[in-house]
Amino acid sequence: MRYVPTLERLPADVSKVDSEFSISVIEGLSRAQKELPCRYFYDARGSALFEEITRLPEYYPTRTEAQILRGCASDLVEDFRDGDLFIEFGSGSSLKTQILLDRVAARIVYVPVDVSETALADAVMRLAVRYPGLEVRPLVADFSRLTALPRDLASRRAVGFFPGSTIGNLAPREAEILLSSFRRVLGKDGRLIIGVDLKKDQQTLTRAYDDAAGVTAAFNMNLLSRINRELGGTFDERAFVHKAIYNSEQGRIEMHLVSEREQDVRVCGRIFHFRKGESIHTENSYKYKVAEFRDLATRAGWQAERVWTDANNLFSVHELA
Ligand code: TRP
Repeated sequence: MRYVPTLERLPADVSKVDSEFSISVIEGLSRAQKELPCRYFYDARGSALFEEITRLPEYYPTRTEAQILRGCASDLVEDFRDGDLFIEFGSGSSLKTQILLDRVAARIVYVPVDVSETALADAVMRLAVRYPGLEVRPLVADFSRLTALPRDLASRRAVGFFPGSTIGNLAPREAEILLSSFRRVLGKDGRLIIGVDLKKDQQTLTRAYDDAAGVTAAFNMNLLSRINRELGGTFDERAFVHKAIYNSEQGRIEMHLVSEREQDVRVCGRIFHFRKGESIHTENSYKYKVAEFRDLATRAGWQAERVWTDANNLFSVHELA
């Protein structure tokens, strides 16, 4: 039988998620500009839709980042040493990680961190088949709340991996706070490899978040069905449309769900009123020039080291130390 490590939970974590979900939904829908927190996109259906997004012709980030990683992987893994930790924040299916794991010669310990227990368990099984000798220590946790590693791992040298431009889903100030917390978790000798989407022409950007096949729209809309399912909401999904706009002042793509008519929606026993054309702001995806991101990383206590981009300057992979 193959050894499959048990999933490790950190205290004070996933159990509070349900009540937190309802609290943040009520809070968000009560604002003048209604909003919903994007971290709730990723239930089972949301995660499946997101995997589909990553394969869309318009959604360039995933394949471009993978291409950049294939080019710089050997350079990146060169100084991995035996016993080092390789910690992926929000590992999901761990697919991009394989680009790096394929080239690591040292006996490292891979620590995938994800809130989704099923995604972690699946990934661990696949990794066990592909890398029989690799030590894997999965951690069921919300990476944004991870303050320390399990005690037996805490003293090791650690390299963090945060691909997918997930950092762009936070406002710059929050991004800075998250990068500082990664700094604390990874330690003074730690390194961070992070994927960051670049600023570019508006059409390329908006198309990536509003594809012709409507997968991103379905992904966005899934938030409403999740509220209906889990919080007894009465959202009529046919009465909302997906909208993606580039806010050039803020340097971000915004995703909205726009109410097509005046309507009332009940959630958790409360009524929320929507005017015709009123939107719920569901997500931001900030874009950075290379220099802008290096500045942000510096403010968070990192030193910006190497950076790689693709030939078309769509995406960047930064190494911080
Ligand atoms: N962080 C990535 C991005 O901003 C992936 C992502 C997060 C995403 N939420 C999304 C992609 C919603 C499309 C739609 O691009």
